[in-house]
Parts: sequence; C-alpha cells; structure tokens
Amino acid sequence: MTEEVAPVKCVGPEYRAEDQKPTATVSTVVNYDNVTVLPQTPQLIALLSIIRNHSTARGDFVFYSNRIIRLLVEEGLNHLPTVSHTVTTPVGRPYDGLSFQGKIAGVSIMRAGEAMEQGLRDCCRSVRIGKILIQRDEETAQPKLFYDKLPEDIADRWVLLLDPMLATGGSAIMAVDVLKSRGVPEERILFLNVLASPEGIKSFASKFPTSRVVTAFVDEGLDEKNYIIPGLGDFGDRYYTR
Ligand code: PRP
Ligand code: URA
Repeated sequence: MTEEVAPVKCVGPEYRAEDQKPTATVSTVVNYDNVTVLPQTPQLIALLSIIRNHSTARGDFVFYSNRIIRLLVEEGLNHLPTVSHTVTTPVGRPYDGLSFQGKIAGVSIMRAGEAMEQGLRDCCRSVRIGKILIQRDEETAQPKLFYDKLPEDIADRWVLLLDPMLATGGSAIMAVDVLKSRGVPEERILFLNVLASPEGIKSFASKFPTSRVVTAFVDEGLDEKNYIIPGLGDFGDRYYTR
C-alpha cells in the first residue's frame, strides 16, 4: 500500500499573484495516457473539501457530490468522437461546428455508481442506463458480482462506466470484464470517477490501456482496510444512508 505525497500548490484565480493565492493539496500526478484528471481549479478543490469533511451532512454531501459529478460528465463527453457539422444560424449564415458521433450508454456500478446517473441524464437526455451490482467484501476488499442488466445493444454503444470510488480497482476491473464479455470493445469504455487511489489507477489503466479514465482527484493511497486516504469515507453510505 503505497502512500504518494500529494503536491501542495497555490490554487486560485489567474489574476492573483502566486503569493496571494491560498495553498491546497491537489491531485497526485499520474502518468498514464489514458487517464485524465480534472483541472485542479479553486471550484473543484472547494467542492472536494466539502464532501471530504467528515462533518458534512448528507444533504450537502449529495448536493456537492452532484456538482463534481456534473463536471466529470461534461469532461467525459469531450472524450467521445465527433464529426464536423455545419449549421445555419437564424441570420442565414453557416457555422462550422461539431456533432457527437455514435450511441452511448451509462453503466453504473451499484450502489454508489447510481449516484452518478442523474448527472449523466442531465447532460444526455434519455440516455440508456445499465446496472452492474458489485459489492466489495468488507473484510477482504475482494469484489463480488451479484447481478447485471445492460441494454441489449450495449456492444454497439460507447459506455460511460460510473463509480465514484476507485480504491484497489477490483470492482471497476470486474465491471469492465463484464462489459467486454458482452462484446463492448475496451476502447469504447470511459470510466467516470470522483476519487481514485494511485493503486487503483495503476491497476485499471495498465490492465485496460485502451479504455479511458476521467477522475476528479487521485489521492495519496489506501489504508489497511483498503479505504482511500485521505479519502472521503464510504461514498455509498454518505450519499444514501448516513
Ligand atoms: C465501493 C465503491 C466501489 C468500490 C471501490 O463500493 O463504490 O464500487 O467500493 O473499491 P475497489 O476499487 O477496492 O473495488 P462498495 O462495494 O463498498 O458498495 P457500495 O457502492 O454499496 O457502497
Ligand atoms: N469505497 C468507498 O466508498 N470508499 C473508499 O475509500 C473505498 C471504497
């Protein structure tokens, strides 16, 4: 269980001099071509500070997690293919733009991943959603697959795999194995994740080099129970039941 030293940096608006910006711990740097970490903006760091705080009540945890999820979905969409698309404006002029190419589906790893479904729906109206129920054994942290229900034509779609937590990587890797067994090519899987450990990133990104990960933050490591540290605790409990 490695503990990376997460960098502490000045974070603040560009118009402020470096010595006038507050410092904050930002994401650990990871060097995988298939991993994108969201820009460590003041907004993102402030949102993460709220959801990491142990005394944040459930209502705020849900509200501010949803805001981070929205940022992840918006960035994730940048990784889907587009084609040139010219439209005519109301004043009769052409605008050379883009349109998305290909069909998508969201697939959430239950339970915590379901928290990301609404953020996806808010951006992609009537998106198809599949579910994979995987639970980590609380003692061993080994994932166990219980159930999956996926759109019939999942193999023809780009899949946005949803899970806010990537700890050992076992659950996400198992979910990708399920998708691949249903014919989804690895390169059409995009994993959207709120908080990752370096260990989870390494396992996932090296096992599936042609899948992509978009995460908000890579933390320092894992504790003896395979919880992410400093982390935010149990995402599913804090979002749904605590
Ligand atoms: C959490 C989380 C991930 C998994 C991450 O789910 O949402 O699915 O653990 O850990 P890993 O990378 O070591 O596999 P959990 O199984 O606790 O279930 P929950 O969604 O019901 O909270
Ligand atoms: N699942 C969580 O919800 N949190 C962790 O830190 C690890 C797994």
